[in-house]
Amino acid sequence: MKGEGDKNVAVCDMKLERLLSMKGGKGQDSYANNSQAQAMHARSMLHLLEETLNKVHLLKYSSSNPPPFTVVDLGCSSGANTVHVIDFIVKHISKRFDAAGIEPPEFSAFFSDLPSNDFNTLFQLLPPLVSNSCMEECLAADGNRSYFAAGVPGSFYRRLFPVRTIDVFHSAFSLHWLSQVPECVTEKRSAAYNRGRVFIHGAGEKTAMAYKRQFQEDLGVFIRARARELKRGGSMFLVCLGRTSVDPTDQGGAGLLFGTHFQDAWDDLVREGLVTAEKRDSFNIPVYAPSLQDFKEVVEAEGSLVVDKLIVFKGGSPLVVSQPDDASEVGRAFSISCRSVAGVLVEAHIGQDLSDELFFRVERRAAGHAKEVLEHLQFFHIVASLSLA
Ligand SMILES: C[S@@+](CC[C@H](N)C(=O)[O-])C[C@H]1O[C@@H](n2cnc3c(N)ncnc32)[C@H](O)[C@@H]1O
Repeated sequence: MKGEGDKNVAVCDMKLERLLSMKGGKGQDSYANNSQAQAMHARSMLHLLEETLNKVHLLKYSSSNPPPFTVVDLGCSSGANTVHVIDFIVKHISKRFDAAGIEPPEFSAFFSDLPSNDFNTLFQLLPPLVSNSCMEECLAADGNRSYFAAGVPGSFYRRLFPVRTIDVFHSAFSLHWLSQVPECVTEKRSAAYNRGRVFIHGAGEKTAMAYKRQFQEDLGVFIRARARELKRGGSMFLVCLGRTSVDPTDQGGAGLLFGTHFQDAWDDLVREGLVTAEKRDSFNIPVYAPSLQDFKEVVEAEGSLVVDKLIVFKGGSPLVVSQPDDASEVGRAFSISCRSVAGVLVEAHIGQDLSDELFFRVERRAAGHAKEVLEHLQFFHIVASLSLA
């Protein structure tokens, strides 16, 4: 349980990797209850995941006593999506072993996220493991788990696994989270100071360039770490928020989520005297939606991985609404969607009560623009399939 001391901590004072998580538990605004849109976007990309999985070399498993086939989901969070994707990967690879006439090895799956992730909620979602005696025969048994599971706490911007131990890395909707808000963005004297704004959508060029540099630095670190951990013949499938514009101050769907009604609600709190302008300005969402070019430059410069596929994919809306004509439902969906991913950071910055005030205003403002929200709020994703050079 979180103690009082955890509240009202300025986000910039505390290392993001000790603080960031999606909203845990199974409540109304939890990530577990608000990740259906991500599930839908992931389903629409399964054919791309299959392509990546079909590239994994299986021949090294034809020897007797093969090592376990090891799959990792990075940025797994605490909802069911990660369980579904691991199940999909294990089943697909099992089928490939069968088709190749190779006895499938045992499977090992690692669910990895930052230490503050709600791993308990995630572990409760795991289906029961098939019995030991059945492990070899029942690899594809429905409703059961045919792999050994473990949680790995830690930032994916560091090494997480021993050298050459992982066959498949998967990561969905996570790599757009930066390791930190660039320091210059919160320094008043810096030309990149993000005065008046809580995200880079619509911010000054220098602020956006600081975010871009941070993203590219982080992605370089990520790639170097994974290139050490990936087995030869293994593959990596990455999906993160992306944008179609070349201009980093136009953050596309992420920009509309964090740069419009969320921004206006912060401004409301300042106008109403509930939060100082300084307090608002010291809060920044540590997300960067890269362009294809931003992403490509890093992979090419780093050089340890080759691109098998790199595309921008239209994912659709992050909102799930049953009555699109009901403006209040649209407003609620927008606010809950925003809170399930950024609520933990907001609460750490201004506390629970002001956070309630903020998201109440987000909801009201989004409801006032419901038609526009439904029409324009679309997410694009960068999809990358990579393997060792
Ligand atoms: C939107 S959730 C994605 C969850 C899941 N992959 C899905 O498909 O529904 C993003 C996740 O990335 C995690 N994350 C962000 N930065 C991270 C980092 N540096 N290292 C590990 N996980 C990180 C967050 O904690 C969060 O759980």
